[in-house]
Amino acid sequence: MTNTIFRTKRVEQSILDTEEPEHALKKSLSALDLTVFGVGVIIGTGIFVLTGTVAKNNAGPAVALAFVAAGVACALAALCYAEFASTVPVAGSAYTFSYASLGELPAWIIGWDLVLEFALGTAVVAVGWSGYVQSLMDNAGWEMPAALGSREGADGFGFDILAAALVLVLTVILVLGMKLSARITSVVVAIKVAVVLTVIVAGAFLIEADNYDPFIPKQQAVDAGESLQAPLIQLMFGWAPSNFGVMGIFTAASVVFFAFIGFDVVATAAEETKNPQRDMPRGIIGSLLICTTLYVLVSIVVTGMQHYSELSVDAPLADAFKATGHPWYAGFISFGAAVGLTTVCMILLLGQTRVFFAMSRDGLLPRFFSRVHPRFKTPHRPTILLGVIIAILAGFTPLTELAALVNIGTLFAFVVVAIGVLVLRRTRPDLHRSFRTPWVPVIPILSVCASLWLMINLPAETWIRFAVWMLAGFVVYFLYGRSHSRLARGEELSVGDAMKPPRGDTE
Ligand code: ALA
Repeated sequence: MTNTIFRTKRVEQSILDTEEPEHALKKSLSALDLTVFGVGVIIGTGIFVLTGTVAKNNAGPAVALAFVAAGVACALAALCYAEFASTVPVAGSAYTFSYASLGELPAWIIGWDLVLEFALGTAVVAVGWSGYVQSLMDNAGWEMPAALGSREGADGFGFDILAAALVLVLTVILVLGMKLSARITSVVVAIKVAVVLTVIVAGAFLIEADNYDPFIPKQQAVDAGESLQAPLIQLMFGWAPSNFGVMGIFTAASVVFFAFIGFDVVATAAEETKNPQRDMPRGIIGSLLICTTLYVLVSIVVTGMQHYSELSVDAPLADAFKATGHPWYAGFISFGAAVGLTTVCMILLLGQTRVFFAMSRDGLLPRFFSRVHPRFKTPHRPTILLGVIIAILAGFTPLTELAALVNIGTLFAFVVVAIGVLVLRRTRPDLHRSFRTPWVPVIPILSVCASLWLMINLPAETWIRFAVWMLAGFVVYFLYGRSHSRLARGEELSVGDAMKPPRGDTE
């Protein structure tokens, strides 16, 4: 059994699979498209919404340091991702990477985990979007009926119809084709970046130095009653649950980590990139650098405009301008946030259907899902199926806990990718890598440590939910994937003699 669950898919095979006409995606993206994609998905609910929440509850003005800590963890992971993405340029991101390096079961686990990350991430962002749209509607004097505006209507029943509608519209756009969505994305990304720059530049003139005092608020004990909501690390070491102080910065970092999710999605578009060997690393690292800089600047400005204890948790950037007597800026920021969250949602949805597509192409999920549309060349079946499920999720589910679950899933994927870099260097030193992670094994090891550190700063209950989801994944793999896998059925050999694996490479 160890032989089968650790069988690996040859890297050349992964690349060749993308050339089977029925299962091939269009190659149309450049490095610039990828960077736009990256920035498009990275800047979102994290900076627009979570900044206020964590400044108020966990870190005070030191939220800027939390962004730095989360950014460092992501940069380490990005260096590993970039090597993998430039070596295995096919759809599926960490899933494909681990299939080529660690084996089938680890790859399945990662794929299963990424589906969770992207699906819930899409739902989280759609709900955030709906909040901003409703706040704009309020300004114009329109109000949604309670039962259609949130999860809890007057009678306890609520369905967020705007969030669900957004997911369905984006699903249609993705089915129609990659190029169309990339074009729409660029315009929206430009608006979003303009809004963020406005916050930084206009807000800088409104900073009051007093608001930075104290920069790192003193540690405060919190009610121990809800122990499962405490970060795992506090339970592990038997510490009294607390907020703020130095550890508060790390709690905040594990939450604002959500703001960085998405740079890994760039890697999922490798198969649709014209020159993945050169453009992938540029796209991933470029978008990450831009976003980290913007986040740090935005959080410094916003916590300088308003005392952290007074920041709003729903729309902190816009409300800081309202509080300083600039409602016009606030309206513009709300509008830009609503527009900007659209692309985040779309790209997460895209990444998620591509992982599902790759898993289906390998036979770990039914092959029915990986036949591309004859005209649009998009994987329309998983896109529609998952789009509908996510729309329902977005309509019914509350945000905060979902965001933590998204974070733990993503961090887990980072751990596997970093280990994968080390394994592939040993097992396939011969492969051409257009980008090589520097200082191997130091960087991958640091990446594993940084990701694990953020993971143990997440609530214990998030760990439990994550374990349940992964357990369900094991069940599906052993009941379906293991026996239907194309590798299991020896289909690799039918593709071409050139691809004959060296002895011992697949089984
Ligand atoms: N990074 C994305 C956001 O903050 C997912 O919304």
